[in-house]
Amino acid sequence: MPAITFLGHGAFLVELEKARLVIDPFLSGNPAAGCGPEAVEADYVLLTHGHPDHLGDGIEIARRCGATIIAPFELATHCERQGARVHAMHIGGAHDFPFGRVKLTIAFHGSGLPVEDGILYLGNPCGFLVIADGATVYHAGDTGLFYDMKLIGEMNRIDVALLPIGGNFTMDADDAVKAAELLGAGLSVPMHYGTFDVIKADPADFVRKAAARGLRAKALAVGERLVL
Ligand code: NI
Ligand code: MN
Repeated sequence: MPAITFLGHGAFLVELEKARLVIDPFLSGNPAAGCGPEAVEADYVLLTHGHPDHLGDGIEIARRCGATIIAPFELATHCERQGARVHAMHIGGAHDFPFGRVKLTIAFHGSGLPVEDGILYLGNPCGFLVIADGATVYHAGDTGLFYDMKLIGEMNRIDVALLPIGGNFTMDADDAVKAAELLGAGLSVPMHYGTFDVIKADPADFVRKAAARGLRAKALAVGERLVL
Protein backbone atom coordinates (compact mmCIF):
# COMPACT_ATOMS: atom_id res chain seq x y z
CA MET A 1 0.00 0.00 0.00
CA PRO A 2 1.15 3.57 -0.54
CA ALA A 3 2.94 5.42 2.25
CA ILE A 4 2.87 9.20 2.56
CA THR A 5 5.51 11.17 4.46
CA PHE A 6 4.94 14.85 5.30
CA LEU A 7 8.09 16.84 4.50
CA GLY A 8 6.68 20.18 5.70
CA HIS A 9 4.57 22.94 4.07
CA GLY A 10 3.05 21.44 0.86
CA ALA A 11 5.76 18.81 0.42
CA PHE A 12 5.05 15.10 0.60
CA LEU A 13 6.87 11.93 -0.34
CA VAL A 14 4.55 9.24 -1.74
CA GLU A 15 6.08 5.77 -1.79
CA LEU A 16 4.41 3.40 -4.23
CA GLU A 17 5.22 -0.16 -5.19
CA LYS A 18 6.87 0.95 -8.42
CA ALA A 19 8.04 4.49 -7.75
CA ARG A 20 8.80 7.21 -5.23
CA LEU A 21 7.00 10.49 -5.88
CA VAL A 22 7.84 13.78 -4.25
CA ILE A 23 5.24 16.55 -4.45
CA ASP A 24 6.13 20.27 -4.17
CA PRO A 25 9.56 19.74 -2.55
CA PHE A 26 10.21 23.15 -0.98
CA LEU A 27 13.01 22.17 1.39
CA SER A 28 15.94 24.62 1.01
CA GLY A 29 15.06 27.81 2.88
CA ASN A 30 11.91 26.24 4.32
CA PRO A 31 11.90 26.77 8.10
CA ALA A 32 9.39 23.89 8.44
CA ALA A 33 11.24 21.36 6.27
CA GLY A 34 11.85 17.92 7.68
CA CYS A 35 14.98 17.31 5.61
CA GLY A 36 17.21 18.90 3.00
CA PRO A 37 16.77 18.27 -0.73
CA GLU A 38 19.81 15.98 -0.75
CA ALA A 39 17.90 13.51 1.47
CA VAL A 40 15.14 13.03 -1.10
CA GLU A 41 15.38 10.10 -3.52
CA ALA A 42 12.60 10.24 -6.06
CA ASP A 43 11.63 8.81 -9.44
CA TYR A 44 9.06 11.53 -10.15
CA VAL A 45 8.67 15.11 -8.96
CA LEU A 46 5.11 16.47 -9.07
CA LEU A 47 4.81 20.27 -9.08
CA THR A 48 1.45 21.98 -8.57
CA HIS A 49 2.58 25.50 -9.50
CA GLY A 50 5.53 27.82 -9.96
CA HIS A 51 5.53 29.68 -6.64
CA PRO A 52 8.94 29.33 -4.96
CA ASP A 53 7.44 27.50 -1.95
CA HIS A 54 6.26 24.69 -4.31
CA LEU A 55 8.71 24.58 -7.22
CA GLY A 56 11.29 24.70 -4.43
CA ASP A 57 14.11 22.20 -5.02
CA GLY A 58 12.11 20.33 -7.65
CA ILE A 59 14.45 20.94 -10.57
CA GLU A 60 17.57 20.15 -8.53
CA ILE A 61 16.08 16.90 -7.17
CA ALA A 62 14.92 15.85 -10.65
CA ARG A 63 18.36 16.49 -12.14
CA ARG A 64 20.25 14.68 -9.36
CA CYS A 65 17.91 11.67 -9.26
CA GLY A 66 17.22 11.50 -12.99
CA ALA A 67 13.58 11.88 -11.99
CA THR A 68 10.79 13.05 -14.29
CA ILE A 69 8.93 16.23 -13.38
CA ILE A 70 5.15 16.04 -13.84
CA ALA A 71 3.62 19.53 -14.03
CA PRO A 72 1.27 21.76 -16.04
CA PHE A 73 2.72 22.48 -19.50
CA GLU A 74 4.13 25.97 -18.90
CA LEU A 75 5.82 25.01 -15.64
CA ALA A 76 7.09 21.73 -17.14
CA THR A 77 8.59 23.61 -20.08
CA HIS A 78 10.37 25.98 -17.69
CA CYS A 79 11.81 22.99 -15.81
CA GLU A 80 12.85 21.29 -19.05
CA ARG A 81 14.81 24.40 -20.04
CA GLN A 82 16.62 24.14 -16.71
CA GLY A 83 17.79 20.65 -17.64
CA ALA A 84 15.14 18.42 -16.06
CA ARG A 85 13.33 15.55 -17.73
CA VAL A 86 9.63 16.39 -17.79
CA HIS A 87 6.20 15.04 -18.58
CA ALA A 88 3.92 17.99 -19.32
CA MET A 89 0.20 17.67 -18.61
CA HIS A 90 -2.72 19.98 -18.09
CA ILE A 91 -5.90 20.42 -16.09
CA GLY A 92 -8.46 17.70 -16.65
CA GLY A 93 -5.88 15.48 -18.31
CA ALA A 94 -4.81 12.10 -16.96
CA HIS A 95 -1.92 9.83 -17.87
CA ASP A 96 -1.05 6.25 -16.98
CA PHE A 97 2.53 6.13 -15.73
CA PRO A 98 4.34 2.87 -14.91
CA PHE A 99 3.48 3.44 -11.22
CA GLY A 100 -0.17 4.42 -11.68
CA ARG A 101 -2.42 7.18 -12.94
CA VAL A 102 -2.07 10.92 -12.44
CA LYS A 103 -4.85 13.40 -13.16
CA LEU A 104 -4.57 17.17 -12.90
CA THR A 105 -7.38 19.05 -11.19
CA ILE A 106 -8.19 22.73 -11.07
CA ALA A 107 -6.81 24.89 -8.28
CA PHE A 108 -7.74 28.53 -7.73
CA HIS A 109 -4.44 30.28 -7.23
CA GLY A 110 -1.50 31.79 -9.17
CA SER A 111 1.64 30.32 -10.67
CA GLY A 112 4.13 33.16 -11.11
CA LEU A 113 7.80 32.83 -10.28
CA PRO A 114 9.54 36.02 -9.13
CA VAL A 115 12.66 36.59 -11.26
CA GLU A 116 15.19 39.41 -11.36
CA ASP A 117 13.18 41.78 -13.53
CA GLY A 118 9.60 40.81 -12.77
CA ILE A 119 7.44 37.72 -12.56
CA LEU A 120 7.66 34.76 -14.87
CA TYR A 121 4.11 33.46 -15.32
CA LEU A 122 4.05 29.69 -15.52
CA GLY A 123 0.46 28.99 -16.51
CA ASN A 124 -2.33 27.74 -14.29
CA PRO A 125 -1.77 26.02 -10.96
CA CYS A 126 -3.18 22.53 -10.40
CA GLY A 127 -3.95 19.84 -7.89
CA PHE A 128 -3.06 16.17 -8.37
CA LEU A 129 -5.01 12.95 -8.13
CA VAL A 130 -2.59 10.02 -7.80
CA ILE A 131 -4.32 6.68 -8.32
CA ALA A 132 -1.97 3.80 -7.63
CA ASP A 133 -1.66 0.55 -5.68
CA GLY A 134 -5.42 0.48 -5.08
CA ALA A 135 -5.55 3.90 -3.42
CA THR A 136 -6.35 7.46 -4.47
CA VAL A 137 -4.47 10.41 -3.04
CA TYR A 138 -5.57 13.99 -3.74
CA HIS A 139 -3.07 16.82 -3.26
CA ALA A 140 -5.12 20.00 -3.62
CA GLY A 141 -2.13 22.24 -4.30
CA ASP A 142 -2.60 25.83 -3.18
CA THR A 143 -6.24 26.70 -3.69
CA GLY A 144 -9.28 28.43 -2.39
CA LEU A 145 -12.38 26.38 -1.70
CA PHE A 146 -14.37 25.49 -4.82
CA TYR A 147 -17.60 23.60 -5.25
CA ASP A 148 -16.24 21.32 -8.00
CA MET A 149 -14.51 19.46 -5.19
CA LYS A 150 -17.87 17.72 -4.91
CA LEU A 151 -17.49 16.53 -8.52
CA ILE A 152 -13.91 15.39 -7.87
CA GLY A 153 -15.24 13.43 -4.89
CA GLU A 154 -18.12 11.95 -6.90
CA MET A 155 -15.81 10.68 -9.63
CA ASN A 156 -13.00 9.45 -7.37
CA ARG A 157 -13.02 7.45 -4.15
CA ILE A 158 -10.43 9.58 -2.37
CA ASP A 159 -8.60 7.77 0.40
CA VAL A 160 -6.47 10.71 1.50
CA ALA A 161 -6.92 14.41 0.74
CA LEU A 162 -4.00 16.73 1.43
CA LEU A 163 -5.57 20.15 2.07
CA PRO A 164 -4.12 23.59 2.75
CA ILE A 165 -5.43 25.17 5.97
CA GLY A 166 -3.17 28.21 6.48
CA GLY A 167 -5.43 30.87 4.99
CA ASN A 168 -4.24 34.15 3.43
CA PHE A 169 -3.05 32.47 0.20
CA THR A 170 -5.36 29.44 0.37
CA MET A 171 -8.29 27.93 2.25
CA ASP A 172 -8.27 28.28 6.01
CA ALA A 173 -9.25 25.49 8.41
CA ASP A 174 -13.00 26.17 8.13
CA ASP A 175 -12.92 26.15 4.33
CA ALA A 176 -10.73 23.04 4.37
CA VAL A 177 -13.31 21.22 6.53
CA LYS A 178 -15.94 22.09 3.91
CA ALA A 179 -13.51 20.84 1.23
CA ALA A 180 -13.10 17.53 3.07
CA GLU A 181 -16.90 17.23 3.22
CA LEU A 182 -17.37 17.99 -0.50
CA LEU A 183 -14.60 15.54 -1.44
CA GLY A 184 -15.93 12.78 0.82
CA ALA A 185 -12.34 11.90 1.55
CA GLY A 186 -11.66 8.89 3.78
CA LEU A 187 -9.00 10.89 5.59
CA SER A 188 -7.94 14.52 5.35
CA VAL A 189 -4.45 15.73 6.19
CA PRO A 190 -3.75 19.44 6.71
CA MET A 191 -0.84 21.16 4.98
CA HIS A 192 0.44 24.65 4.11
CA TYR A 193 0.30 26.18 7.58
CA GLY A 194 2.74 27.58 10.11
CA THR A 195 5.67 27.89 7.72
CA PHE A 196 5.36 31.68 7.76
CA ASP A 197 3.61 33.95 10.29
CA VAL A 198 0.94 34.92 7.78
CA ILE A 199 -0.25 31.31 7.43
CA LYS A 200 -0.27 30.44 11.12
CA ALA A 201 -2.98 27.87 11.86
CA ASP A 202 -3.60 25.16 14.42
CA PRO A 203 -3.87 21.75 12.74
CA ALA A 204 -5.61 20.39 15.87
CA ASP A 205 -8.36 22.97 15.30
CA PHE A 206 -8.86 21.59 11.77
CA VAL A 207 -8.94 18.00 13.05
CA ARG A 208 -11.49 18.94 15.77
CA LYS A 209 -13.76 20.81 13.38
CA ALA A 210 -13.62 17.94 10.89
CA ALA A 211 -14.44 15.42 13.62
CA ALA A 212 -17.42 17.56 14.69
CA ARG A 213 -18.84 16.97 11.20
CA GLY A 214 -18.07 13.26 11.31
CA LEU A 215 -15.02 13.54 9.06
CA ARG A 216 -11.73 11.73 9.70
CA ALA A 217 -8.69 14.00 9.75
CA LYS A 218 -5.16 13.60 10.99
CA ALA A 219 -2.33 16.10 11.25
CA LEU A 220 1.06 14.63 10.41
CA ALA A 221 4.18 15.81 12.20
CA VAL A 222 6.98 16.80 9.85
CA GLY A 223 8.74 13.57 8.93
CA GLU A 224 5.78 11.41 9.97
CA ARG A 225 4.96 8.56 7.61
CA LEU A 226 1.38 7.43 7.06
CA VAL A 227 0.79 3.98 5.57
CA LEU A 228 -2.56 3.76 3.80
NI1 NI B 1 1.34 29.21 -4.01
MN1 MN C 1 2.20 28.08 -1.30
